[in-house]
Amino acid sequence: MSTLKKIPNSLEQHWMPFTANRHFKANPRLIVGAKGMYYTTHKGDTVLDGSSGLFCVAAGHGRREIADAVYEALTELDYAPPFQFGHPVTFELSRRIAALTPGDLNYVFYTNSGSESVDTALKIALAYQRVRGEGQRTRLVGRERSYHGVNFGGMSVAGMVNNKKAFGLGLPGVVHMRHTMLPEHKFTLGQPETGAELADDLQRMVDLHGADSIAACIVEPIAGSTGVLVPPKGYLERLRKICDQHHILLIFDEVITAFGRTGKQFASDSFGVVPDMITMAKALTNGVVPMGAVAVSDNIYNTITNAAPETAVELFHGYTYSGCPVAAVAALATRDIFEKEQLVERAAKMAPKFLEGLSSFKDLAIVTDIRGYGLLGGIDLAPMEAPGLRGLAVMQQLYDAGLMVKLTGDSVLISPPLVSEEQHLDEIFTKLRDVLKTH
Ligand SMILES: Cc1ncc(COP(=O)(O)O)c(C=O)c1O
Repeated sequence: MSTLKKIPNSLEQHWMPFTANRHFKANPRLIVGAKGMYYTTHKGDTVLDGSSGLFCVAAGHGRREIADAVYEALTELDYAPPFQFGHPVTFELSRRIAALTPGDLNYVFYTNSGSESVDTALKIALAYQRVRGEGQRTRLVGRERSYHGVNFGGMSVAGMVNNKKAFGLGLPGVVHMRHTMLPEHKFTLGQPETGAELADDLQRMVDLHGADSIAACIVEPIAGSTGVLVPPKGYLERLRKICDQHHILLIFDEVITAFGRTGKQFASDSFGVVPDMITMAKALTNGVVPMGAVAVSDNIYNTITNAAPETAVELFHGYTYSGCPVAAVAALATRDIFEKEQLVERAAKMAPKFLEGLSSFKDLAIVTDIRGYGLLGGIDLAPMEAPGLRGLAVMQQLYDAGLMVKLTGDSVLISPPLVSEEQHLDEIFTKLRDVLKTH
């Protein structure tokens, strides 16, 4: 029997991440197989993947092209150190990514996750300001209701209390703008018309703390994990303008939105705003091998590299597995699939049907709000006695009914693979309705 299918005698010793461990171990949801749009559970049931795993398996599961590329790397070049040595694939991959990124974001730094990409981007921002002679700019601006991963930098700039409160104060000097969800946005699919002025919170930070204390401002163009908060029209443009006026770097955290989720290559393209850096991960390798990346502008790369002597390391940062061959070939193979199957265009084509399906839940009393953009949707449910209880119950019921979605608290997050056909969207919405109407 395959190792992946063998159920161990004890589940106790594994401390699971972001999981109610005792609850899970009493009634485990184990996945033992995946193909195309579906998972197989340890009980032999089939579960439709309505969340692309964790927003990452954009091209569907079990892609042969990626498996072959990874096998080739494992047998021909299993590892090569990324510091002072290299291997050809990361250079080719960077060329391919740079051809996709907006504006002059032409340089790519590799990491192993979204969290590492965020912390890398924040460190690059600090290093950039320092070599410009503005080393006093150490303040980072984040936003309420944002998620930027779990490392210390990302945790600090993010705005989710449960992810912070056990871990002390985080980075010093971090300040947060308000989130962009206004009461009048309820049940708005696409960009809300009002709320662009919330970007002026950044100006308030400038007025309060001084522009010369601020290195960078980081936002998710669409806040994903906290419930799919789509930016109001004009909001990102206004952030860009304020950043430009005050030499503040603008970082878009596109760990969820990069590579087609919004119907364009990047959310930055969808909203027509070019940041100074874009963080990415997840769909970069179709989720199958950990890999993240940060794309930075010509100006940032040149400013930092030209400030050091030619024989010196310019940025004292990197990971043992930055751009490791297995991940790099998986990312290249994923890019090939995206191009061959036109997955970004496909997402754009499928988005109207997806958003229509989302809005059909308006009639259920338990549904308190619905938001969505591209192939990313959030449905808020009225809480039960304690926050998150309904979410947990709904997730379990959906799983039992054969649908996997991501729950954040009492918000259902749906992000189907970009290869979804109409029938898969129908199946998602039918199963969702069958479960929600029992509440
Ligand atoms: C916007 C954003 N940033 C960062 C992360 C962290 O990524 P990872 O879990 O790969 O560290 C996530 C994960 O969902 C994310 O959505």
